[in-house]
Amino acid sequence: MSKLILGIESSCDETAAAVLSVENGQFDLRSSIVSSQIKLHARYGGVVPEIASRAHLNNCIPVIDEALRKADVKSSEIDAIAVTMGPGLIGALLVGLQVGKSLSYVWNCDLVGINHLDGHLKAVFLEDDEPPQFPFIALLVSGGHTSLYRVDSFSEIKLLGATRDDAAGEAFDKGAKMLGLPYPGGIQIDNLAQKGDKKAFSFPRAMLHKGLDFSFSGLKTSCRNALQKLNHQPKDQELFDFCASYQEAIVDVLWKKTARALKQEKCQQLVVAGGVAANSRLRGAFQKWAEKINVKVHLPSRQFCTDNAAMIAVAGYFQLELGQKSNLELNAKSRMPIV
Ligand code: KG4
Ligand code: ZN
Repeated sequence: MSKLILGIESSCDETAAAVLSVENGQFDLRSSIVSSQIKLHARYGGVVPEIASRAHLNNCIPVIDEALRKADVKSSEIDAIAVTMGPGLIGALLVGLQVGKSLSYVWNCDLVGINHLDGHLKAVFLEDDEPPQFPFIALLVSGGHTSLYRVDSFSEIKLLGATRDDAAGEAFDKGAKMLGLPYPGGIQIDNLAQKGDKKAFSFPRAMLHKGLDFSFSGLKTSCRNALQKLNHQPKDQELFDFCASYQEAIVDVLWKKTARALKQEKCQQLVVAGGVAANSRLRGAFQKWAEKINVKVHLPSRQFCTDNAAMIAVAGYFQLELGQKSNLELNAKSRMPIV
């Protein structure tokens, strides 16, 4: 049986649309368009919710049009619309959700509301030739979340641990801001760290020997203290070393907690998802360290780690397979757990 699903994503600062064709369970991503608002928010050093909502209003229809055109698909051929309903910025979510609801009404097709976190988790199924086998451990690392889950099936997801304060992406972004790097800082630190020595500076690894929760707020403070001690903004090799050491503190904690979860739950399969999973050091180190303990790591390609609508479309497919459709009363939620 074949299905054409339009995915729509507008939970933060990316307006995205994608067309996914599914034939006998095989995915063919026909288009994936992401319109980033980075330039609009960069001067404020972070996402400004009202600016994000207004930009989604301007971008949503053109981005959907482009996704349909690139996929060479007519609106009448779309079988279902999968749209992010939360968590995220409420004004931003409402724009994509309202567009998704209106189009499903006008086009007379199915509608399915998607949890953004669930979308991140399902991104790995888009391309993986050997998809993860249940049960697996999932590490979800984004700008707003850092959580470990045990996934026994798509409807049985158990939270094992989460950050008690900042998310890993926030730690990257705030550290970068202190270093005077442009927003969003994760990719900047990633690039600069490649030329640096990860042992040059010493940063703390919080809560390392206790449970599966994370804490990154102390790292931020130690970044500020290290900069005060230097008494100047690092540049060139010193900046590369600073970035490499700071990044290593984040990746190291993420791995050690993940390794503990794998051991505790006796799982040999790991999915890493969310924007921070695009980090080069994390990708390389996780593959290497996992191999040593005979664990298979599944990572979406970098374009599907950060926010996109292809992951929303694929999550929509799995939800429709479970018979879970939404109706026009579907509403946005700024906070919602993964299941
Ligand atoms: O998943 P995502 O696009 O949006 C949220 O759902 O939050 O994640 C965004 C986060 C930001 O904090 C960004 O700095 C971080 O992911 N990020 C990275 C990299 N690319 C994006 N962090 C480290 N290294 C990267 N290459
Ligand atoms: Zn996200």
